[in-house]
Amino acid sequence: INIILLGPPGAGKGTQARQLVEERGMTQLSTGDMLREARNSDSAMGKIVADVMDRGELVTDEIVIGLIREKLGEGGKGFIFDGFPRTLAQADALQRLVAEMDQKIDAVIEMRVDDNALVSRISGRFTCGNCGEVYHDETRPTAKPGVCDVCGSTDLRRRADDNADSLKTRLLEYYKKTSPLIGYYYAKGSLTTVDGLQDIDKVSAAIAKIVNRIP
Ligand code: AP5
Ligand code: ZN
Repeated sequence: INIILLGPPGAGKGTQARQLVEERGMTQLSTGDMLREARNSDSAMGKIVADVMDRGELVTDEIVIGLIREKLGEGGKGFIFDGFPRTLAQADALQRLVAEMDQKIDAVIEMRVDDNALVSRISGRFTCGNCGEVYHDETRPTAKPGVCDVCGSTDLRRRADDNADSLKTRLLEYYKKTSPLIGYYYAKGSLTTVDGLQDIDKVSAAIAKIVNRIP
């Protein structure tokens, strides 16, 4: 099965995707993570990507679709698309790519969170540089300060684009370019909305219910 997690920056897409990977062995495809890897790689593309990301704007469809295409051969138990698609052009490209593999998108899960909550989620977020686990100063702290619960690493980081200026641009980009996908998938009959303001466990339970209903 293949599912899309759709929602604004800070909605909890990455947090829930990791949960699905752990519980169901699905493959997470986060274009944000792929782009962060690319920007660290010292390539020509890396430099272009870094500037765009730090401003909070969207990277071109061409780059992002290329990254997704490269990864699509690898998922045994299905994919969780996290942060992709983000434009109608990306949604159309994804449609074609899954059709080429004789597959389909089984569910699009919209995680709805209001803008005020997004600001506090983003400003409290930190992640493990070693294993990628996502934490939050208040809602999901590490058990031991400064140490990742999962892998024990002390390399805990904040993202360069998690500042007030970039967040403003990221939200604008979301409303201008990504939120039309809600109507697009609704019209296709594949959209389900979950209340992303609930506790992490409650959101996970709501998502599990949707995934379990997929035949
Ligand atoms: P990306 O990495 O995708 O960032 P984003 O969409 O802005 O989403 P986030 O990772 O910020 O949030 P999330 O929804 O995953 O929330 P999380 O689980 O971390 O993209 C970054 C940039 O890359 C873009 O700006 C763009 O430049 C580029 N890019 C990426 N994909 C692209 C594409 N397809 N096309 C073009 N450009 C692209 O949770 C947030 C915080 O809240 C955490 O601290 C977490 O612990 C906490 N939290 C989570 N759930 C809850 C809960 N239920 N209750 C309380 N706290 C919670
Ligand atoms: Zn870790």
